[in-house]
Amino acid sequence: MSAEANPPGLFARLASGWRDRLGSTPPPPSLPDAATPADPVAHLHPLLRPHAAKLCSAAAAVAQVRHGDHVFVGTACATPRTLVAALEAVEFGVSDVELVHFLTDNAVPKDAAGQATTRFRHRSFFVGADIRAAVSQGLADYVPLSIARVPELIALGRIAVDVALVQVSLPDAFGYVSLGVSVDIAPAAVARARVVIAEINPQMPRSGGDSVLHLDQIHHLVPVDGPVIEYRHPAVASAAMEQIARYVSGIIEDGSTLQIGLGRITNEALKYLADRRDIGIHSDVITDAIIPLLERGILTGARKTQHRHRIVTSFAMGTRALYDLIDHNPLFVFQPIDVVCNPATIAAQHKMVSVTQAFAVDLTGQVCADQFNGEFYGGLAAQGEFLRGASRSAGGKPIICLASAEDGPNGEIVASRIRAVLKPGEGVTVARTDVHYVITEFGIAYLFGKSVRERALALIEVAHPRFRAELFAQAQALGYIGAEQTLKNMRAYPVEEELTATLKDGRSVLLRPSASGDAQGIRDLFHGLSDRDVYTRFFRKVCGLSDRDVQRLCNMNFENEVAFVACFGPRENPQIVAQSCYFVDPSSNLAETAFMVHPAWQGSGLGATLQRRMAAHAQARGVRGFVAEIMASNESMIRLARAGAVTGPNQVTVESNGGTVRITLLF
Ligand SMILES: CC(C)(COP(=O)(O)OP(=O)(O)OC[C@H]1O[C@@H](n2cnc3c(N)ncnc32)[C@H](O)[C@@H]1OP(=O)(O)O)[C@@H](O)C(=O)NCCC(=O)NCCS
Repeated sequence: MSAEANPPGLFARLASGWRDRLGSTPPPPSLPDAATPADPVAHLHPLLRPHAAKLCSAAAAVAQVRHGDHVFVGTACATPRTLVAALEAVEFGVSDVELVHFLTDNAVPKDAAGQATTRFRHRSFFVGADIRAAVSQGLADYVPLSIARVPELIALGRIAVDVALVQVSLPDAFGYVSLGVSVDIAPAAVARARVVIAEINPQMPRSGGDSVLHLDQIHHLVPVDGPVIEYRHPAVASAAMEQIARYVSGIIEDGSTLQIGLGRITNEALKYLADRRDIGIHSDVITDAIIPLLERGILTGARKTQHRHRIVTSFAMGTRALYDLIDHNPLFVFQPIDVVCNPATIAAQHKMVSVTQAFAVDLTGQVCADQFNGEFYGGLAAQGEFLRGASRSAGGKPIICLASAEDGPNGEIVASRIRAVLKPGEGVTVARTDVHYVITEFGIAYLFGKSVRERALALIEVAHPRFRAELFAQAQALGYIGAEQTLKNMRAYPVEEELTATLKDGRSVLLRPSASGDAQGIRDLFHGLSDRDVYTRFFRKVCGLSDRDVQRLCNMNFENEVAFVACFGPRENPQIVAQSCYFVDPSSNLAETAFMVHPAWQGSGLGATLQRRMAAHAQARGVRGFVAEIMASNESMIRLARAGAVTGPNQVTVESNGGTVRITLLF
């Protein structure tokens, strides 16, 4: 036994782990190799005695690996590093051995320069930090495959597993160990392997759910006693990420079920859920980010459709605080990855929210999430299942998020991540047909069910302002946007100007600056007006709005043309229930206003709310006042225009001119 693999006193500590967990005081257990006392079994804890023959050193265990074997290595924070190190150290080596894994930590030895020095080939379903050097050196193959489908391919033998190396907790009184923080694909590998070797670690928590193996399923037990690997998210690097996290959290409603994933943005977004209620978790992975939400009583899971009041996951990556929380805690249900990530199960969740971080998206909505600068980076994990599942869930939200621009080495902006077309070396991870929300630090675009033109416009409106004109020109050159279309506001969509207003009758609407993508919503609003309303708004009979007409109502430059819309209902399918706009006359510095409120919303104070919103906006920009030309019979509009708008004395002048009234309101 190598001293490094099994340090002195380890068996004694293993025994003490037993003592702590089971309240008994076993005598020191024995070693089965050179240091084995005369009567090893007698000295073992009673529960280990039936399995004494399985205890061995790491070196002895990995001697079972044969030439040509495919060796599964356990995942993430449960990577069996002692076993992998022992395998790399086998004196005469074994030929043609392939290590198969998902996300690992220290499964690939590296030299001081960070170059992989492994003696084996690796086959990985994820290009994490551990494997990146090996992939770029050609020592590892990346398999672009949903991790949720791996168990099926292992069971079919299409992904070969001859030996499984895993890490487990201490056994219970019935001889069951727990796979602890990483269940994921391990059960499938264990079921298929000729030889199963487990590091048995007293510090590995016992997780609840389908995470147990019986010791009969394990051929060799190698005692280790070290801290379970901890994972901390690096601090959020940029204001952009912080802003995206706010937007993501902003659309997570009470009662939602969340997939957390490992993305920094999602984990950051959880911080902003402090005022939400009854959030549930159904996630491939959980992290420390759930702890504060649990402490505040936000993660009740009370509205989950399945496993109500429980947190369902397949693996955990966090600090000891998370592992202590998981240990023996029935709140957590760990399940194999194919069970957690079954799209039908995900779709059955209440308001399922899934967030995927992407590197780039093109103007039609194709998303690249596993290649960066031409190199494979990260992987598909189970994002496809979560995005599709969330899109089928009632009230679900599949979200793609990305920073709008790529930063250079000194933090300078170098390129847009919203691209006219993806670059060579940027494969499509998520098809344009599956994309719903795309969130950048400049706002939220909703693409599902939208035309190519609508997608391109919506994405340009959340692109970095520096690249908007260029993207618009490229979109026109590609034929995505017609020649007659303009995009007047080349600045960022002013998300900070969005606000929720509660009307006299208690209904709430989102008041926000209009965008060119609102064209259809405005058209629907127009067709909802009565003939009389149309006449009072346009001073003539109008049957329909041409593209140009409708763009005049929503595509504003937000300098001397400004429009707001009032939206009701979910963000992905809002009903525009009102629109108002003002146009500044530079000669007088007065702005002419106009309003449209859907009949079902008239008389509830929405017109007045929009008037106040626009007046505050205009006043902040130094506009002197509003002018409204109103039909003399339009009593409500006259009252609205006269009512004034802002705090402080407003000076109102009314001029009658035959059938119309001109009301001037000076701020
Ligand atoms: C005119 C219009 C914008 C008003 O919007 P609204 O949301 O109904 O207005 P509000 O609920 O905020 O009410 C504004 C004022 O009108 C009054 N009002 C509302 N409905 C009224 C009605 N049917 N008859 C008389 N007054 C009415 C309100 O009491 C309020 O006055 P107050 O502040 O003195 O109490 C809306 O009716 C509309 O879109 N009409 C069709 C298009 C149009 O005429 N646009 C204006 C030309 S630019």
